[in-house]
Amino acid sequence: MLLPLCWLKFLLLGDHIVPVLVFRDKTDTKYVKVLSDFPALPAVTACAHLQWDTRTQEIATIFSYAVPAFINEFQLRGFVDEEGFVRFALIVHGHHSPYLPVFRADGQWHHFCVTWQQENGTWAIYADGKRRASASGLCAVGPSAPQAIYGQGTFIIGQDQDSLGGTFREKESFSGNITDLHIWQKVLGAEQIEKVRSCWVVEQDLVFGWSSNALEVESTVMTTPLVIEDPCNDPSNDSCSDVLG
Ligand SMILES: *[C@@H]1O[C@H](CO)[C@@H](O)[C@H](O)[C@H]1NC(C)=O
Ligand SMILES: *[C@@H]1O[C@H](CO)[C@@H](O)[C@H](O)[C@H]1NC(C)=O
Ligand SMILES: *[C@@H]1O[C@H](CO)[C@@H](O)[C@H](O)[C@H]1NC(C)=O
Repeated sequence: MLLPLCWLKFLLLGDHIVPVLVFRDKTDTKYVKVLSDFPALPAVTACAHLQWDTRTQEIATIFSYAVPAFINEFQLRGFVDEEGFVRFALIVHGHHSPYLPVFRADGQWHHFCVTWQQENGTWAIYADGKRRASASGLCAVGPSAPQAIYGQGTFIIGQDQDSLGGTFREKESFSGNITDLHIWQKVLGAEQIEKVRSCWVVEQDLVFGWSSNALEVESTVMTTPLVIEDPCNDPSNDSCSDVLG
């Protein structure tokens, strides 16, 4: 019998099904906080699966990471453009990349990864395993060399923080579903990103691995363990490779 890889992962971990966070509407209250200790990050990769709510064209904050010295230390935002694409922009130390199209606003699950490194301020955005955007110079301007992303900050899923850990605004909040968020303190290459997309956990340099135990979930955010809702857990999904062949 063949077991899809994503199922095997859960069997091996003796785990149940990793929940999907459901942000049903834009609000100034729904948030999920990552309860990890963040080191300083000279390089970073953040990946997740998400389902974009196509009902709104306003800018949504997928995640925001804030430190006392810089509220907009590290952020990912997006919106649906007029051609029907979701566009993402990365923010580091308050510097904003352009909004670039990453995937179709089709209501389906999509996988994304964003990477940034202190060296040259080089960044990239991947969607469904493909690199959609990359450039240098994000926050590498000014007389001083770019800084690492500061450690010990507050990482919030679904809201922009206008103060450390709070002051959320409905207009900038995320609406949709998100799961399998992982954060590494290095830049993952295309090959590793493909592994992550098909539900392998790349353990090396992992700062945060998706686990409901390490999340503070505000009470009106729903978590659904429905198997079919988790793209990494869909038994009919052929992109989850067979490993017991
Ligand atoms: C998110 O998941 C919920 C519950 O399964 C579903 O009803 C909703 O349509 C999904 N939202 C989006 C934006 O796809
Ligand atoms: C940074 O820029 C220098 C000079 O242009 C280049 O030689 C180097 O390869 C770049 N490093 C990265 C990681 O892109
Ligand atoms: C199948 O899983 C991949 C990740 O392994 C995901 O990107 C894709 O959206 C899933 N497809 C469906 C139809 O759920």
